[in-house]
Amino acid sequence: MKIYSRPVHGSINPNELKILGLKKENLLDFSANISPIEPPESVWEDIQSVDLRSYPDPECLEIRESISKYISNLSYQIPIERIFVGNGSNEILHLISRIYLSKKSTVLIMTPTYGEYEFACRLAGASVITFNANVDSDFRWDFREVSNLIKIKKPKLVIICNPNNPTGLYCKRNEIDILAKASINSGTMFILDEAYLSFVAKPWDSLSLLNYSNIILVRSMSKDYAQTALRLGYALASENVVSNLRAFQPDWSVNSFAQKTGISVLEDKEYLLNARKVVFSSKNYLKKALTELGLDTVDSDANFLMIRVENATRWRMLLLNKGLVVRDCTSFGLPNYIRVGIRVIEECKLLVKAIAEVAQDTLSEFN
Ligand SMILES: Cc1ncc(COP(=O)(O)O)c(C=O)c1O
Repeated sequence: MKIYSRPVHGSINPNELKILGLKKENLLDFSANISPIEPPESVWEDIQSVDLRSYPDPECLEIRESISKYISNLSYQIPIERIFVGNGSNEILHLISRIYLSKKSTVLIMTPTYGEYEFACRLAGASVITFNANVDSDFRWDFREVSNLIKIKKPKLVIICNPNNPTGLYCKRNEIDILAKASINSGTMFILDEAYLSFVAKPWDSLSLLNYSNIILVRSMSKDYAQTALRLGYALASENVVSNLRAFQPDWSVNSFAQKTGISVLEDKEYLLNARKVVFSSKNYLKKALTELGLDTVDSDANFLMIRVENATRWRMLLLNKGLVVRDCTSFGLPNYIRVGIRVIEECKLLVKAIAEVAQDTLSEFN
């Protein structure tokens, strides 16, 4: 059996802390991209109200009804038959790979991006081809070129993250349309991972893409409501894809705490508005402050920001020694970038102060 190395993720690694003798409570985590504000208050009451003796609903019926109500708009009604709920969007990505890929399959992944896509596809035995963004044009992709590649290679699956992790690039509707059309013409399934969509200032309505039968939209609720510990995500797709996903998902995969809190946070009309406001103002502050320090940042439409540095691995360690955890982008193939998740402004100020010190220290080493 072939063993693949696991993808690198952000967030605090307990093993590393143990080795370095650091304590989690003394660190500020900028390496995970989650809502900058505390989870909605209602979550704690919901958690306490869960009956521990009952199994979770394996069909996730109530939460699918809530999601349907939450996302449907005047133009697009999404019935529960087109909604699948998973133990985080990660489970959904792995299920899709297991169901639709085999040793004969080829997958096209738009990179640099979230490492779990490639891992899931390789576990399913598929070969992976990547299409890299152009670093010199703000990490954009050439969609005409990629569309030709789809025509030639006819991959089983195409995966793109929008807005993209780690670059923060948010592709336009017409760009995604090019990929969707090329995919449908080549008999290819198309995954659009929208894990960070809630933090885009002016998103376009991607629900209309569901008119294409080959599209799967994947979304994460863990990040939107700062509850990654609970694990909750959903996919929107054709009825057929949804029933295949359900056929392969182990029963009770989505625990009762996640289902219960998921239903109530969707009813909270204020939470996301507030979280978004914080993201927008802190991101502006960070960009400005970092530019004043002479550092380059990559324009981002998401709730994180890439910063160009001399050596990302070294910068991460130097910042960790100051109590701040950032994401070293080397595993994305970007050894000159660190990625920081947007937090409240007071915490961003601490980050800027630490970055200024590291910049000063690394500069004096060269002089
Ligand atoms: C782009 C992207 N998609 C999906 C996920 C998985 O999120 P979750 O399983 O918490 O929903 C992540 C997590 O970092 C991510 O960055």
